[in-house]
Amino acid sequence: MQLLTATCVVVACCVHSAVCADPFADFVEVMTLTAEYAGRYYDSVRSYFAETCDDRWIHDDLIGLSDHLNKKLYGQHLAQEGVMYFIARHLQSAEPDKALVLSFHGRTGTGKHYVSNIIAQHLYRKGLRSQFVHLISAAREFPHEERVPYYKDRLRAWIEFNIARCPRSIFIFAEMNKMPPGLIDTIAPYLDSYYTVGGVNYRKAIYIFLSTTAGDEITQYAFQHWWNGYPRKDISPTDVINIIFRTATSTKNELWNSEMVYRPMITAYIPFLPLEKSHVRRCIEDRMVARGYLVTDDTVESVMKEILFWPEREQVFSVIGCKISF
Ligand SMILES: Nc1ncnc2c1ncn2[C@@H]1O[C@H](COP(=O)(O)OP(=O)(O)OP(=O)(O)O)[C@@H](O)[C@H]1O
Ligand SMILES: [Mg+2]
Repeated sequence: MQLLTATCVVVACCVHSAVCADPFADFVEVMTLTAEYAGRYYDSVRSYFAETCDDRWIHDDLIGLSDHLNKKLYGQHLAQEGVMYFIARHLQSAEPDKALVLSFHGRTGTGKHYVSNIIAQHLYRKGLRSQFVHLISAAREFPHEERVPYYKDRLRAWIEFNIARCPRSIFIFAEMNKMPPGLIDTIAPYLDSYYTVGGVNYRKAIYIFLSTTAGDEITQYAFQHWWNGYPRKDISPTDVINIIFRTATSTKNELWNSEMVYRPMITAYIPFLPLEKSHVRRCIEDRMVARGYLVTDDTVESVMKEILFWPEREQVFSVIGCKISF
């Protein structure tokens, strides 16, 4: 206690020289001054550590994002270009005219979650741990079709609450293809251009929808391209996006059935191509390095042997993408 009192006097002396002029200054005054300065200090320390919806915590690191995708996303030139283009356009506009809505399509393990994670990492200092980054699995959160009216209310309240807290929020909806019928209509108004509730700006938000819809069709197309002897880099975005569009509109999935409302809201369809052996090898190497294993040709090949490739005869694309478990 004596030590604390002495410290208080020293602190108060440092900040208020009048107190020091008289060594018998009123003890209460010393304590009041000390408390006041301690309070101010506490506030600044707290705002330094607690995440806030401003550029201290939202850093829009486009160069880092581009670099990360360049170096660590394998075999997805279409996704890489699409993501960079649309994210940059959205962030560079002070007043975007609508929310950014990206719909990621591809087979399992091709990098849809992985890219969402990288985006979050370079837009928010806390990445996926940011309170402004929301990852939700349609299958897990909305498992029962009969509860859709309840889910609708919950989803609406959830989006409104989070956007009111921070307009620059990201919502990642995984397994969109398992979204129960009717629920998508709830999201639609927030994706629209002029939607405002109580003066809240809904246009700065980013929505990323992940689905395997059209994954098989993209794979078929990529195989045909490979079969014809064309380099993967020449796969045209327009062709693949048309495939996604055609497939999506012909599936029975409610997401795409409610498309009258939903389709115009999507800013871009982002295709994820099936991964080839060279890409999978690099994923295995990364995983081994991350786990501290020794990377040798033999160890990588021993993991490669466990992975199924398609088609059976040509063995071109990994059936599980880079979803390797070890
Ligand atoms: N193109 C890629 N380049 C580098 N690593 C990748 C790539 N695709 C996947 N990976 C690795 O594989 C892991 C699994 O991929 P991810 O979770 O992104 O698959 P997904 O496309 O979301 O699949 P699903 O549809 O099953 O959810 C990632 O965490 C990442 O480590
Ligand atoms: Mg995924």
